[in-house]
Amino acid sequence: MSLSSLKDELNTGIDSLDYEHRKLVGVMEDICVSFDHGESSVSDLFGTLHARASAHFALEESIMREKKYAFYDTHKADHEQLLDRIRFMMDAYEDGMCKECNTSLRACLEAWLAGHVANADMELSALAERQP
Ligand SMILES: [Fe+2]
Ligand SMILES: [Fe+2]
Repeated sequence: MSLSSLKDELNTGIDSLDYEHRKLVGVMEDICVSFDHGESSVSDLFGTLHARASAHFALEESIMREKKYAFYDTHKADHEQLLDRIRFMMDAYEDGMCKECNTSLRACLEAWLAGHVANADMELSALAERQP
């Protein structure tokens, strides 16, 4: 799944979350472009991604708590793993390959967000239907 299709195809129906997913993909695209051009801004952009992802996960978790979402603990644990993974990618990016999954930085970034949004976040669509 490309980063642009991630932006366009995965919608939970909760506007604030969908907006933030698109913004996160924007930062990921900036990282890939910066990396491809050998720019020194890559590590700063990874810092931006970590900060924005942390804020995004906090928003999602507050919505899940408010709606008494049954799978809150599992979803939150997944968020914590995703933040750890950003740190791992940040350390590994200079080689252009992720040592853990043996894929390119771009593929690793795509898999990082796509897997979580396509599975855990899409299940939050049920919460959107309960909004007044
Ligand atoms: Fe999310
Ligand atoms: Fe999530």
